[in-house]
Amino acid sequence: MNKIVLEARGIQFVRGKREILNIGRFSLSEGETVALIGPNGAGKSTLLQVMALLLKPDRGVVEFRGAPANGKNVLAMRRRMAVVFQESLLLNTTVAGNVAAGLKLRGIPGPEIKKRVDYWLERLGIKHLAGRRAYQLSGGESQRVSLARAFALEPEVLFLDEPFSALDFPTRLALLRELGKILRDTGVTTLFVTHDFSEVPYLTDRVAMLKNGRLVKAGTFEEVFQIKPRKETYLTSLYRIFEE
Ligand SMILES: Nc1ncnc2c1ncn2[C@@H]1O[C@H](COP(=O)(O)OP(=O)(O)OP(=O)(O)O)[C@@H](O)[C@H]1O
Ligand SMILES: [Mg+2]
Repeated sequence: MNKIVLEARGIQFVRGKREILNIGRFSLSEGETVALIGPNGAGKSTLLQVMALLLKPDRGVVEFRGAPANGKNVLAMRRRMAVVFQESLLLNTTVAGNVAAGLKLRGIPGPEIKKRVDYWLERLGIKHLAGRRAYQLSGGESQRVSLARAFALEPEVLFLDEPFSALDFPTRLALLRELGKILRDTGVTTLFVTHDFSEVPYLTDRVAMLKNGRLVKAGTFEEVFQIKPRKETYLTSLYRIFEE
């Protein structure tokens, strides 16, 4: 078993009088991609934000490489992580400017920024959009920029919260295939949230299922669903027409 990078223990998260999360233990090991699945309102985004140290739980601890997050170290820890949300949240500047922004904030030297921006724009197939303003992008292009921005940070942990759920099927499929390859190539530790189970086999075989704020199942895709993972779905067959 690989080393644990991030671990949440005894997490309770309350909003108003409602308990939104109650998690005994949830962890990410070095290099693995875990798909966090569950229906709308299950608490997936809340758990993702607790793990990403963006939300402080009412009870419990999140440890990053063995060190519990606290008020003093949380900012430094966050800088070693990157998050991509469903809405791309781009800055009102160019595509290249968006990918560079986080690197500038982290004080990375100019030539290194340029190298990383060029690489990730190329890798996500958006080099030709480098000078385009963010508001002029399609949904799929915007999410490519968000992914480039996240990978350019070379995070130790990557969080993806339903990054493709607003995209049409062919765009989603193309991005899932590309992201799957990038995750395998970089080996970055990743938490991928989705309510669409059919997305999971493109990215990983590790699944954790959340229901009413509790982890109810975890294991391989087959263990959790009692069915072999398949990438080719009914929709893929229909949309093959776009690839002809
Ligand atoms: N700011 C808030 N105030 C009160 N309740 C909230 C707040 N944010 C989330 N909740 C509630 O917490 C629960 C879990 O929300 P969360 O967004 O984590 O679910 P989710 O699994 O990500 O759902 P979805 O699939 O719709 O994104 C929901 O019942 C939601 O209404
Ligand atoms: Mg959510």
